[in-house]
Amino acid sequence: MQLLHIDSSPRRARSHTRQLSSSFVNEWQIRNPHDTIARRDLGADPLPHVTEEWIAAAFTPPNERTETMQTALRISDELIDELLKADLIVAGIPFYNFGMPSGFKAYVDQIVRIGRTFAFDPNLPESPYTPLVKGKRMIALISRGDGGYEAGGPNESMNHLDPHLRTVFGFIGITDIEIIAAENDEWGGQALQDSLQNALQRAQQIAVQETSTC
Ligand SMILES: Cc1cc2nc3c(=O)[nH]c(=O)nc-3n(C[C@H](O)[C@H](O)[C@H](O)COP(=O)(O)O)c2cc1C
Repeated sequence: MQLLHIDSSPRRARSHTRQLSSSFVNEWQIRNPHDTIARRDLGADPLPHVTEEWIAAAFTPPNERTETMQTALRISDELIDELLKADLIVAGIPFYNFGMPSGFKAYVDQIVRIGRTFAFDPNLPESPYTPLVKGKRMIALISRGDGGYEAGGPNESMNHLDPHLRTVFGFIGITDIEIIAAENDEWGGQALQDSLQNALQRAQQIAVQETSTC
């Protein structure tokens, strides 16, 4: 198995999403010492946003791309190659302003690419879009400052992160997504501790389950 471990919090030791993702990965490593783990730290090493050159290059057929265009897509190619090699993606994602942080969005914009992770054919009868990424599972480890954003909770309608993740990763073919969230960072105290403990337990449980199914 190949695991891709992504973190996107700009915080380091104080980050709950980093704590959740490292807890999962540590448990995984103990059980699967021969697996390979690729690492992306979008908080420590932010990615560039897409540019006009990037867009022009992405929508030019590969055999017609100039050297400058190929350069514009180099980071995107590297990220997509890394993603395609992974069987399991473990991503720590803070909840910022009701959605994903810009560092993670920059990653999404680099990996959702015509001809590489999705195909476009206007002549197809049902949908012009075909996802090109197959057979992957994703574990999204989220932390939120407030509470009640879960399904059925009072703030569910303001949670744009969970549906966005399912839509955008589903669009490229990653539909098997488990979302685990800790809440109440802003409140602290017992409310935070309980929520974090539950999320850590669930993350560990999945690491154990995944091991026994692969
Ligand atoms: C820029 C910014 C925006 C945030 N927006 C929200 C928000 O909309 N709703 C919320 O519940 N918490 C919000 N928070 C709190 C974070 O979700 C919370 O601190 C979370 O634990 C961050 O993840 P981390 O611990 O991995 O850094 C925000 C925090 C920051 C820094």
